[in-house]
Amino acid sequence: MTSPPRATLATYPLHDGGGLPLVLLHGFPLDHRMWAACAQHLPAGTRAIGVDLPGAGHSDLDGSPPSIEHAADLVYRAMVAEGEGNAVVVGHSMGGYVALALAERHPGFVAGLGLVSTKSTADTDEARAKRLRVAAATDDSQTVDAVLGMPAALVGATSTEHRRHLFPSLDAWIRAQSPASVAWAQRAMAARPDRTAVLERFSAPVAVVVGAEDTVTPLAEAEHMVRAAAGSAPGTAAGNAALTVVPGVGHLSPVEDPQAVAAALGLLHNQVVAHH
Ligand code: MLT
Repeated sequence: MTSPPRATLATYPLHDGGGLPLVLLHGFPLDHRMWAACAQHLPAGTRAIGVDLPGAGHSDLDGSPPSIEHAADLVYRAMVAEGEGNAVVVGHSMGGYVALALAERHPGFVAGLGLVSTKSTADTDEARAKRLRVAAATDDSQTVDAVLGMPAALVGATSTEHRRHLFPSLDAWIRAQSPASVAWAQRAMAARPDRTAVLERFSAPVAVVVGAEDTVTPLAEAEHMVRAAAGSAPGTAAGNAALTVVPGVGHLSPVEDPQAVAAALGLLHNQVVAHH
């Protein structure tokens, strides 16, 4: 008899319910807490599990080289260890990169995909070089100073003006991350390939959500993913992919307008359950 795989990631029940769960994967440089408000707005009875990706929050780094694929394998192992055979996997930004890697590596696990403020394309050379500079600066300083300024660029213009209350939490969440995890995640993201073809092959329901004011993963990236996923289930006008553009928010859509993102994820969950 083989022993169950060891779970190394911290997981959190974020919304009570039964049946097929939503697994919520966070963006960079944050942890599962970025999903807490959104999870509270999910339809009654929709179970949601938050995960801290490697090194983030209460999840340790295990000595493996930086890799989105390794992060995806660890999420899969953590879920299997908890007895979850299937899930609707939802990722925000970096979490979306992990969700796509999960769909590629463990397709039987992923019953539906929520791709929130993320993209399926790889980094440009310039973006990759910037990530590697941030990782090196983080290693050198042994602080997270290199990413403390990110919230100003992540939230949209509307939130900058009207949702100032978000900034202290964002700052606290980033300061709580370890320098090693920030560097690991930057190098992992820099190395990820284009996964548009994963969406082209994926035939279960897909929800793509983007903030109208997102300049990090803008609408064009969302539309690119919808086109790829829609092509994988020909026969209906929109295929298996739905696009939600959330007005008045930037890249941190689940934090900036948790209710709107939860509504899109609730629809996705219903669609998956009907399709399953
Ligand atoms: C994130 O929100 O996870 C990051 O902005 C992703 C990235 O840097 O590509």
